[in-house]
Amino acid sequence: MNILILGSGGREHALAWKIRQSSLLNQLFVAPGNAGTARIAKNIPIGVNDFKKIKSVVLSEAIDMVIVGPEDPLVGGIHDYFLEDDALRNIAVIGPQKAAAALEGSKEFAKLFMERHKIPTAAYKSFTAESLVQGYSFLETLTPPYVLKADGLAAGKGVLILNDLAEAKRELKAMLQEAKFGKASATVVIEEFLAGIELSVFVLTDGKDYKVLPTAKDYKRIGVGDTGLNTGGMGAISPVPFADKAFMDLVHQRVVKPTVEGLKMDKLPYKGFIFIGLIKVGNDPFVIEYNVRLGDPEAEVVVPRIQNDLVTLFHAVANQTLAAIDLQIDQRTAATIMAVSGGYPGDYSKGKEISGMEEITDSLVFHAGTELKEGKVLTNGGRVLAVTSFGKDFVEALQKSYQSIGKIDFKGMNYRPDIGFDLEVRTTRCPE
Ligand code: AMP
Ligand code: GLY
Repeated sequence: MNILILGSGGREHALAWKIRQSSLLNQLFVAPGNAGTARIAKNIPIGVNDFKKIKSVVLSEAIDMVIVGPEDPLVGGIHDYFLEDDALRNIAVIGPQKAAAALEGSKEFAKLFMERHKIPTAAYKSFTAESLVQGYSFLETLTPPYVLKADGLAAGKGVLILNDLAEAKRELKAMLQEAKFGKASATVVIEEFLAGIELSVFVLTDGKDYKVLPTAKDYKRIGVGDTGLNTGGMGAISPVPFADKAFMDLVHQRVVKPTVEGLKMDKLPYKGFIFIGLIKVGNDPFVIEYNVRLGDPEAEVVVPRIQNDLVTLFHAVANQTLAAIDLQIDQRTAATIMAVSGGYPGDYSKGKEISGMEEITDSLVFHAGTELKEGKVLTNGGRVLAVTSFGKDFVEALQKSYQSIGKIDFKGMNYRPDIGFDLEVRTTRCPE
């Protein structure tokens, strides 16, 4: 099979690395890709939202399957674009259709979906510029912290958590009346704050059946002890030690099953990954958000733990035969640490030469923001590399990743030295 992966991050490099191992693969393409994918696939310099150019590559390279990494093209309807085109209709696309991708594209849509299917989530109300005053009144009924969410895609920046009522009102006005996040904040969801510990559950569905993939926990803040600005993710661990059998049983019953059943009931066509952001409050799972793709850097720990041939799995998703597949998961723990550019998530510079990667033998190095120029690997983004290792538990996996990342260098390189700081080693295995 000829396969095209859309995207350019660590997630896409991890997918490409895994797909390279498939006996079903003929040629692999990544668009636009990075220096890591350039070594194992052919990079094609086109944007993930340029459907016309994607069509032309798919036809000229005789692509059989397209795997969509990021959410933007899914929310923009790339799967539907293929289905509506006579020349593309029979090409498998991994990722939901537009109607279902609204689970990530609109927080309000996701909230209504959860309400309809009785999936536990924080209580909420949504507001527009016309109902700003009602929004103020609703805030007054809540106790701080106040959670304000731009309805649409806002590059991971659309959620504000504020302690002060006056500030929450000011921000609500800025979002609704002053388009703080552009069109994404024309509607704002205000919800109850949930105090607990976060984790993510990944599900692969063919629209009929599903497989629950490994859990992962990501570290979003830039600073030690989960402080400072939000990033795309500074590291991740899989499995999550506190997601024990009793908790995961609740997640299956209360969240995963009703989500997949809800998609069917609502006729939302879904062939792809569902990324369920959860918060464990006491022993109960609540859904914080849905994403319609794999996470990044979660993919860098989840994908290496999948032992099945990934192309076989995707083929089953496309043909709706996932039920016949027996999922095999590596029982070891995987941990990843992100090396980022100095200044990230604020301003940072690019084009710094990266050295030391060839000395790493105990870990996998997935490229994120990198590019290949005149034979050199240069930084080309905020998040630059993810260093993934396996261990008997997350402590051992992290130790290896920290040893490996110590060999890498580029000007301004930064990473969190405390990934996993909030976890305890468990002696019993997580139920995967
Ligand atoms: P989201 O984009 O919806 O995942 O929100 C971004 C982050 O905000 C989450 O990862 C949580 O850390 C936090 N968050 C979102 N909603 C809530 C909530 N209702 N209660 C507490 N924290 C939240
Ligand atoms: N690491 C969080 C995300 O991919 O959305």
